[in-house]
Amino acid sequence: MSEAFGLDIGGSAIKAASVDVSTGELTSTRQTVATPDPSTPEALVGVVHRLVAERGWTGPVGATFPAVIKHGIARTAANVDRSWIGTDVDGLFTRATNCPVTVLNDADAAGLAELRFGAARDAPGDVVVILTLGTGIGSALFVGGKLVPNTELGHLELAGRDAEKDAAASVKDRQHLTWSEWVPRVQRYLSHLEMLFTPDLFVLGGGVSKESDQWVPLLDLRTPVRPAELLNDAGIVGAALAAAQQCGG
Ligand code: BGC
Repeated sequence: MSEAFGLDIGGSAIKAASVDVSTGELTSTRQTVATPDPSTPEALVGVVHRLVAERGWTGPVGATFPAVIKHGIARTAANVDRSWIGTDVDGLFTRATNCPVTVLNDADAAGLAELRFGAARDAPGDVVVILTLGTGIGSALFVGGKLVPNTELGHLELAGRDAEKDAAASVKDRQHLTWSEWVPRVQRYLSHLEMLFTPDLFVLGGGVSKESDQWVPLLDLRTPVRPAELLNDAGIVGAALAAAQQCGG
């Protein structure tokens, strides 16, 4: 069995577990702790150190981060503390854990997991768009099974606004929208993506994928739509996969 440790760092919670990267199964209990507020590098690095050390882990570690990650460095910070911009997240976590750490965008990680083990594992055709609808909108674009990293499609401008400010699941909660009030926003957004990419498949993830039967049938698109399957574990599993790949696993 080839194992890696996955950390899923989100705006409200950090989830961690070790993963069998050949099956996508968690090999330890999933641990969840609240994301420190403010979520500064100093505060977060302490939590990451503790989660890895408590498990006595010394192997490869993958960590998701809700930002553009280029060569391990955070280039944006839409939903985390702005002091992350320009931070070498990879280097910081590697020093804190004493393990080889691979950091990647959270939606890219969820996409890798869905493509390998989840809703897109037998994806038809070439172009697959995997979206996470949560605090923001994360995106993972795959072409011929290969990830095009950091696509940030949640920040497309639609009707003069950042798409995620209009259609993220957090907007539904904040504005107390019903499914039928929220779905037209998702529809407008997905129709726009459909026009840009002509995908073969959309996979829709994030917390709302648990209730997909309430809203996915209301969408009217040419592209097949599947709800994500890995739910709470997608980030952890995708981070572990990325770490194992980085270490030649
Ligand atoms: C960020 C992305 C992230 C997404 C989901 C967006 O606001 O810009 O990097 O993937 O939220 O967390």
